[in-house]
Amino acid sequence: MAVAFLALLLLLLLSGSPPSAFAAGDGEHGYTLVEISSLQEKDVCSGHRVPVPPNRTWVPLSLLHGSCSPASSARAKPTLAELLRHDEHRVEDIHRRLSGFADEKRKKIKKRAAGSMSTQMNSGPVLDVNMGTLSSTSSQSEVVFQPTATGGSSIRRRRRPPGVRQTVMVDTASDVPWVQCRPCSKPPCRSFDPARSNTYAAFRCNSTDCARLGPNANGCFRNQCQYRASSPDGLTSTGTYGSDVLAIGPARTIRRFKFGCSRAMRGSIGSAAAGGIMALGGGAQTTLVAQAASAFGNAFSYCIPPTPSYPGFFTLGSPIAAASRRFVRTPLVRDGRSPATFHRVLLRAVSVAGRTLDVPPQLFAAGTVLDSRTTITRLPLTAYQALRAAFRSSMAAYRKAPRKGILDTCFNFTGVPVVNLPKVALVFDRNAVLELDPSGILFNDCLAFASNADDTAPGILGNVQQQTIEVLYDLATSSVGFRRLAC
Ligand SMILES: *[C@@H]1O[C@H](CO)[C@@H](O)[C@H](O)[C@H]1NC(C)=O
Ligand SMILES: *[C@@H]1O[C@H](CO)[C@@H](O)[C@H](O)[C@H]1NC(C)=O
Ligand SMILES: *[C@@H]1O[C@H](CO)[C@@H](O)[C@H](O)[C@H]1NC(C)=O
Repeated sequence: MAVAFLALLLLLLLSGSPPSAFAAGDGEHGYTLVEISSLQEKDVCSGHRVPVPPNRTWVPLSLLHGSCSPASSARAKPTLAELLRHDEHRVEDIHRRLSGFADEKRKKIKKRAAGSMSTQMNSGPVLDVNMGTLSSTSSQSEVVFQPTATGGSSIRRRRRPPGVRQTVMVDTASDVPWVQCRPCSKPPCRSFDPARSNTYAAFRCNSTDCARLGPNANGCFRNQCQYRASSPDGLTSTGTYGSDVLAIGPARTIRRFKFGCSRAMRGSIGSAAAGGIMALGGGAQTTLVAQAASAFGNAFSYCIPPTPSYPGFFTLGSPIAAASRRFVRTPLVRDGRSPATFHRVLLRAVSVAGRTLDVPPQLFAAGTVLDSRTTITRLPLTAYQALRAAFRSSMAAYRKAPRKGILDTCFNFTGVPVVNLPKVALVFDRNAVLELDPSGILFNDCLAFASNADDTAPGILGNVQQQTIEVLYDLATSSVGFRRLAC
């Protein structure tokens, strides 16, 4: 912060009279000084920004396409326009699934979405897992960030666990985990070959595990259970449902992990090196968290880093009591009317620069879906307009820039190294106050929020707003916890 302050002073000296918002300075209630460069991605992956909590088993998590991502080099980075377009697909699909449209209408929309799929890409958090027990012919060791007893992390090499490493996307709105299997359709891809794993077994069509697929069942082929899984962005995978060993870091192994071995995929997975979906939805018995619940506890958490140049983390299982107390908590909403896949909480209010927006709490009554793979948070129209007005007036000192897609409040920070940014806080049910990190307020120099078409659809808390916050999905207590400054 000292550096930021010096930069600010320098700027004030150079520019003559200070813009009014700057006069507040740091420490002034409701504002934070933010170096614009701290919000920008760098070409190299840095180490952890914040020590990872001790005594919790975690694995690194990164943003697909970022410099820390294991899958980053495989495809050129998407443009902002592509990313925002993809975000719209996902949001539309989540809204459609929650509103229970008539089947006919849904089919029509699906067709339309399929037509525009060429620009589709995925962003969002990914992590590496190990599948199966193959005798690996490649390198026998790998580099890992290792937590130290004092809570920091060091880099060391360790023996690679047996099996194939797959980079999978963390999807909190999907029910069936799946990985790309050999033969893969578009090489090069890192894919799992079930024929080479000693521990793999496909489920028979008459097995109880096959029956558990419910709506994701897709018939029978050579007496092997078939599945069909789709995530809310048009990505659909089909193949054989089976089980094998899954290792997520050294401390989380599931001996008989049930997953889809994908043979065909519709829609783009965004990177040839990303090889599947780690489903963490709230409803089905098929999700990773449901399968791990008896061994590790019915919970998981992740921290999405502030920029793709830092690693975040993912943990499977419940936190110990001491760690648990550090979260502010709000209940999960389960009303039985809509798919339980979605983790929903109740947003009650939003504040900007310490002032609560003047919008009635009923406006948020449809709930807010927590999603790991939606990028930009969506608010009901009236709430968004209030947020935008308050934000614009707090940022009146800065030069405006043209809108970028759905982002309609953008700035030109050329020559502005430090910004006096209004604090933005989200207030959830039971007075759970979550102050956002600056990286969750500005995205590509724009206010990182967008509006729903009206006030009736549920809001969606996107992954940009979740950045630097450990989000704990504690399904055992039916609550969500937030812990700030976690990564
Ligand atoms: C955390 O781990 C350290 C070192 O492994 C141990 O000394 C300490 O007792 C543990 N704390 C808790 C709360 O389990
Ligand atoms: C499933 O079918 C196989 C034959 O295809 C049979 O041997 C087995 O007993 C059946 N299992 C159950 C649970 O019905
Ligand atoms: C930002 O402002 C600078 C200085 O006025 C100008 O040169 C530049 O073209 C602007 N950039 C955009 C994207 O508007």
